[in-house]
Amino acid sequence: MTTLIKNGTVVNATGTAAADVLVDGETVAAVLAPGSTLLGVDLEASVDTVLDAAGKYVIPGGVDAHTHMEMPFGGTFASDTFETGTRAAAWGGTTTIVDFVVQYPDQRVMDQYHLWHEKADGNCAIDYGFHQILSDVQDDSLKAMDELIGEGVTSFKLFMAYKGVFLSDDGQILRAFQRGAENGAMMMMHAENGAMIDVLVQQALEAGHTTPYYHGMTRPWQAEEEATHRAIMIADLTGAPLYVVHVSAKQAVEQIAAARGRGRNVFGETCPQYLYLSLEEQLGARSEEWGDFEGAKWVCSTPLRARAEGHQEQLWQALRTNDLQMVSTDHCPFCMKEQKDLGRGDFSKIPNGIGSVEHRMDLLYQGVVDGRISLPRWVEIASTTPARMFGMYGRKGVIQPGADADIVVYDPSGHTSIGVGRTHHMAMDYSAWEGFEVDGHVDTVISRGKVVVDDGEYVGSAGDGRYVKRGLSQYLT
Ligand code: URP
Ligand code: ZN
Ligand code: ZN
Ligand code: ZN
Repeated sequence: MTTLIKNGTVVNATGTAAADVLVDGETVAAVLAPGSTLLGVDLEASVDTVLDAAGKYVIPGGVDAHTHMEMPFGGTFASDTFETGTRAAAWGGTTTIVDFVVQYPDQRVMDQYHLWHEKADGNCAIDYGFHQILSDVQDDSLKAMDELIGEGVTSFKLFMAYKGVFLSDDGQILRAFQRGAENGAMMMMHAENGAMIDVLVQQALEAGHTTPYYHGMTRPWQAEEEATHRAIMIADLTGAPLYVVHVSAKQAVEQIAAARGRGRNVFGETCPQYLYLSLEEQLGARSEEWGDFEGAKWVCSTPLRARAEGHQEQLWQALRTNDLQMVSTDHCPFCMKEQKDLGRGDFSKIPNGIGSVEHRMDLLYQGVVDGRISLPRWVEIASTTPARMFGMYGRKGVIQPGADADIVVYDPSGHTSIGVGRTHHMAMDYSAWEGFEVDGHVDTVISRGKVVVDDGEYVGSAGDGRYVKRGLSQYLT
């Protein structure tokens, strides 16, 4: 099966070019000047399919390096399965996800890794890899880290919050980071000071502050800055590279920037929710249907921050200047009915998470339209760097000969109305992005050479996606 994508503007992280892209089987065979022949062969006449991309961008498929499909969390499970969540991702122009294998205390890491394969294998619409979460750091877990690297799981997330659930103490974190420094893994951190947060939550509840707004009020930026700093010091001491997930506070960005300024391999991601949504407007929202529980739709950690404090401007700026390197969704959807609802009357029992896997590419393209980032930088933060950061670059994150043919034809003159009943394919009974109107539109999505989305129609099937055995990070300096 051969396809020629002609007349488009190919956008890679390195720049843009008017070019035709020849796909042969599952990979990119050539990127050619428009209308080129190849060894005298008229391509258009000899390929199986011709796709006209005139007026459109031809970009490497999105890589969302932070998702939680079917995650057991907060007394329930994230509402997207690997099947529904990866299909929604495909609709939105994402062709690879990296999901988190969960290990709770007393569970064995390797058992959980195999369980995640059982959940995902044969069910995904697009390619998928895994990171591994470590909670209690058993001797066995350290051995598993070495074994997992051979399986293509080359990154490990630890938590400084959620005592009794995920939280590792600093000594456990140190031991895991020491192992990461030895075996080349990327160490990922949920950087919030859980002990401080737990006291603030208790005090808020005792004072009768039970609404979702107080989720944000009890997880202040100081808790994020302090934990980010501590994680950087543990990385510093051990020599392990550090990747801080879901950065929302400008003060945490400053910590990361300062460490980078000292020449450290310290990196950070932010998520669309922190770039657009806020404590005041979302966590503090009221509605006819849900009253002051409306804000539960946006309960996630780290929390949405106060718009008035200026975090969003700093996050966009950091994405421009590479103080932050990439944007993932932290896709962790829960329905309002029966899931978020568990925390009515007690915000601390609201399952934490927001679903965005379908909208990341569009929401970030809006950053190009708004003049916040350049066109190649859009591709870089949404596809190229995630691939490099997590050892997939060359196959993923770039349109070049030999790369997997994961390609999105993106229509910059299109428009996307986000919301339930419009562009909403995630298994959630609401959209965290209801009413968002963004420029740009995902027209065609090709996953390893196969068209899976054709002008808004999903034409792929569960099981198209394959496990990506990742290498070590290609982003280290
Ligand atoms: O609220 C969030 N972020 N839920 C998912 C789990 C995590 O901490 O990433
Ligand atoms: Zn986290
Ligand atoms: Zn997460
Ligand atoms: Zn269109």
